Amino acid sequence: MQSKPFTKQRMKIIPMARGRVLEIGIGSGLNFKYYNNISEVFAVEPDGILLEKAKVRAQQNNISLNIQQISAEQLPFEDDFFDTVISTYTMCSIANLSLALNEIKRVLKKEGKLIFSEHGKAPDVNIYNWQKRLNPIQKRIAGGCQLDVNIPVVIKDSGFETLSFDSMYIPGPKFLSYHYWGTATIGQENG
Ligand SMILES: C[S@@+](CC[C@H](N)C(=O)[O-])C[C@H]1O[C@@H](n2cnc3c(N)ncnc32)[C@H](O)[C@@H]1O
Repeated sequence: MQSKPFTKQRMKIIPMARGRVLEIGIGSGLNFKYYNNISEVFAVEPDGILLEKAKVRAQQNNISLNIQQISAEQLPFEDDFFDTVISTYTMCSIANLSLALNEIKRVLKKEGKLIFSEHGKAPDVNIYNWQKRLNPIQKRIAGGCQLDVNIPVVIKDSGFETLSFDSMYIPGPKFLSYHYWGTATIGQENG
């Protein structure tokens, strides 16, 4: 997650964040240094050890972090609260992703944006078959990570109206490196 290709992905999307920001499954806070003019970040993170690391990293990056140790399936925020929700490499780990995306939709303002970079289902049948084969091991050793999530389909199926994304293999093992990144909005995209 700290390798150069993953960092490059973070640098493509994090500067797009605007206004009041929520990161779901923030991990150890690897995105902090790529925010542009954002001084406060809300976050949820179920893992207590990662949460403590994120607090330290927030301080190092002069970010005021408002973090809670909970899962994204039940967000403790009122409706229409955030301008931006960020998910980087978290959708693969969320047990009930549809529920979490519904929550994200609820807490996003109508003109707000979900900004994401995720690894997911590879377009090549061979690689996809490997992803399916490796899923049980990956889930066990990588915190529930599922390799073959069809990220755009899941986002679209959760009711986001506009989805704008790119996809490609980034350098690395192919079963883990097919990437989807972009933005999703509830209403029509308005720049
Ligand atoms: C691969 S890590 C990515 C961390 C971070 N977003 C990053 O970009 O480095 C996956 C993260 O998702 C978190 N996670 C797992 N299940 C979750 C859930 N149900 N809701 C929110 N976060 C979850 C994990 O604790 C972990 O921090």
